[in-house]
Amino acid sequence: MTFIIFIHRPFTMLMLSNKDTYICKLRKHKMKPKNNSWKGISTVAMHANGNEHDSDAHLVPIYATSTFTFPTAEEGMERFKNSDKSQIYSRWGNPTFKAAEQTIEQLETFRLKDSAGEQLQVKALLHASGQAAMTTMFMSNLQAGDAILSHYSLYGGTYELMHKVLAQTGVQTIIEDLRNLESLEQALKQYPKIKLVHIETPANPTIQCVDIEAVTKLAHHYGKLVTVDNTFATPYLQQPFAYGVDFVFHSTTKFLNGHGNAIGGVLLGKDIEFMKTKAWKWYALLGGNSNPFDAFLLSQGMKTLEVRMERHCSNGLAIAEYLQQHPAVAHVNYAGFASHPDHATCMKQMKHPGPMLSFELKGGLAAGKKFIDALKMCVRAVSLGTVDTLISHPASMTHFGVSAEEKAKYGITDGLIRMSVGIEYVEDIKDDLDQALQTSQLSK
Ligand SMILES: Cc1ncc(COP(=O)(O)O)c(C=O)c1O
Repeated sequence: MTFIIFIHRPFTMLMLSNKDTYICKLRKHKMKPKNNSWKGISTVAMHANGNEHDSDAHLVPIYATSTFTFPTAEEGMERFKNSDKSQIYSRWGNPTFKAAEQTIEQLETFRLKDSAGEQLQVKALLHASGQAAMTTMFMSNLQAGDAILSHYSLYGGTYELMHKVLAQTGVQTIIEDLRNLESLEQALKQYPKIKLVHIETPANPTIQCVDIEAVTKLAHHYGKLVTVDNTFATPYLQQPFAYGVDFVFHSTTKFLNGHGNAIGGVLLGKDIEFMKTKAWKWYALLGGNSNPFDAFLLSQGMKTLEVRMERHCSNGLAIAEYLQQHPAVAHVNYAGFASHPDHATCMKQMKHPGPMLSFELKGGLAAGKKFIDALKMCVRAVSLGTVDTLISHPASMTHFGVSAEEKAKYGITDGLIRMSVGIEYVEDIKDDLDQALQTSQLSK
């Protein structure tokens, strides 16, 4: 017996026999990335994942399922053969992850062209955390006997991953001042085993900036890969693929999500074949996959990236200027100041200097503790990139695992305070800082 079935949107007429009626149930997920001809990055952030979802849902559904059914053995075989593994088993991929991945791919390549003048293509893999994405990035590119060259100002977890975990696998880490191109070239010549140069810019917590273009040119000249941690900047402020880097990494926990409600990380690579094979294999075998709920939250958070970043940045500038002139403050690290050693690099590669800054109080650690304890609105917490202002103490928190000697060498002094400036009304942030700074200078 044969039925004629009309399925609304997409208008499809199927001639089905009894045994084929499963086709009615299986409406294949339709997240086709849109052709990116949009003029504004906010449009990309909102529409990049196609907006056509099962049951005509407006938002991407949360596919809370560990596994996916195969209507036939043949369809199962096809999915295994296909490089898109988002409908087999959620450690291998999942449609909710895929929606977020497509958005990040398009944000990081917004208006970028490849050597043939076509829209640059990259592939993203969404992970459970920044640390998981970084592990995939390093482990899939390096093996025992290889070395990483990096700058000294790095997120503490990255530093520890390199020196504790990668060291155990026989991968050495060499640290140089990558702002100094002579030191970079000397290291590249001296250590032929360097396979990869890793940059974090702006860097945590000193807000140092490394010249992505100059480092990439030199590293590529010596046949090395370049990886960039773009967490502090986001693709709205800085697009490392514009300078030809090989991999871009984010802790999506931060500005990409923006609301502090999910941990996540993403690895993007421009060698699509490598990303679909080796990087995907390491991702799947290490088990660093995201989860549908966090991926959903990330997709929603990214939609407001541009408006959030604009306000974060204007507040960041206002707060940096406020702190700079305050009599209780000894020093402010903010890359937007002409006096910052990396100001020119920051302005060359970033749209705005960003909302991250650090500062030192007159009175060092003791004054810093009083200041942090006196805060009434700004939040005492590690992490960064949430809509509200977060204040932390790197020496005892994010960089606790870095030795005292290394911290001193790299400018992470005991009195340093790090601030992720939020998008509150800026006068309220100033008022809270004002009363806490006054308290910090009291003798008791
Ligand atoms: C610059 C930077 N990279 C990587 C990470 C690690 O990310 P996650 O905490 O999401 O694992 C962090 C976390 O603070 C970070 O600030």
